[in-house]
Amino acid sequence: MTTDSTPSNRKQEPLIIGIGGGKGGVGKSMVSSNLAVQYANNGLKVILIDLDFGAANLHTIFGLRQPPRSLGDYFNSPRSQLADYLVPTGVNHLSLITSSGFVPELANLKHQQRVKLLNHIKGLDADLVLLDLGAGSSLNVVDFFSMCHAGVVVATPEPTAVLNAYEFLKNVIYRIFFRVLRNDEELTQILKASIKSNNDYGIHTVHDLIRVIKKKNGWAAETLQDICQDLSFHLIFNQARKTTDVQLGAKLNQICEKYLNITLNFSGIVFYNEEVPACVYKMSPISLAAPESVTSQSLRTIAIHTFNRVAQIVAGQGAAENFSDQMAHVGRHAHVDFERNLLTQRRLQRSRERSYLTETSADLVSLEEK
Ligand SMILES: Nc1ncnc2c1ncn2[C@@H]1O[C@H](COP(=O)(O)OP(=O)(O)OP(=O)(O)O)[C@@H](O)[C@H]1O
Ligand SMILES: [Mg+2]
Repeated sequence: MTTDSTPSNRKQEPLIIGIGGGKGGVGKSMVSSNLAVQYANNGLKVILIDLDFGAANLHTIFGLRQPPRSLGDYFNSPRSQLADYLVPTGVNHLSLITSSGFVPELANLKHQQRVKLLNHIKGLDADLVLLDLGAGSSLNVVDFFSMCHAGVVVATPEPTAVLNAYEFLKNVIYRIFFRVLRNDEELTQILKASIKSNNDYGIHTVHDLIRVIKKKNGWAAETLQDICQDLSFHLIFNQARKTTDVQLGAKLNQICEKYLNITLNFSGIVFYNEEVPACVYKMSPISLAAPESVTSQSLRTIAIHTFNRVAQIVAGQGAAENFSDQMAHVGRHAHVDFERNLLTQRRLQRSRERSYLTETSADLVSLEEK
């Protein structure tokens, strides 16, 4: 990471990164909580915001059973400052804004409320704000994701989750296009029509869409093209089981390039590790509970690469490496992590077998004594 070991004194807008991915349970909250810890440990001043209004759980991941304040109170007190809702996590430089407690209004925020929240987020005193988003492609999720400087897309390396991630990105792109073209009735109609696969314009891809729009309005077409070029999406495969899972990243990128006119960044791959759910019971992200574990180390590497690429893209330099280079890089890490993870899983298996044997023999002894 290109950071000092102490938080900077700058009063700039924080970098805002959304974490989404379409499918439920793929590990968005695991990734966002651990990236937050990794960045804070590197000296960045980080705020993690739980925007999973239906099933907020970041507070429990950080061991807070009943947080003193949450976003529900913020929306119910129109004049309050977002900074008043920060809750310490016990990790230096890392605060949390929770959405604990069921607040029905949060599920149906209006676009203006989301914009207002985002403007308040921009005013927070932090280097980096991470938004943990819920599952699915509801307007809340897609809108927040599309308004961030960069988006981390978490998927498991399975065809269903990869397709979900693709659909999620498509929704995000269309949401951005609708916002940009909202004042042009004719182009909005073309955009709407293009969502249907059998449309009168023969539009099947974003490339087609831009070509059709170009005939009506060259400036608008150029704007959409620039948007596609500048989008900064970073893929993480989580709960991977084999090193060849890396290849699915290339497949997803291929369909994104072909149909959505965007190129992804490949941040990395995290293997399925039984230590991760165990940390949920300890109410601590694995990067805190087991910083030397293979998962924490993988997430550290991912945090560094993602931050550096986001910073480059936001600075208008584009990512230094193309997708194939990034994939080669991820593949090299995956081989090392896979071996280490295998040893961890075998150790956990042996320790489970040992405790099973101890318990069974204790049961037998007590049976004999009866
Ligand atoms: N790499 C991993 N290895 C093993 N288990 C994992 C891993 N990553 C996440 N999990 C487990 O998967 C479950 C789902 O993770 P998490 O809650 O982070 O997903 P999510 O995408 O945020 O879900 P939701 O869509 O409900 O918000 C949790 O029990 C978590 O401990
Ligand atoms: Mg979650």
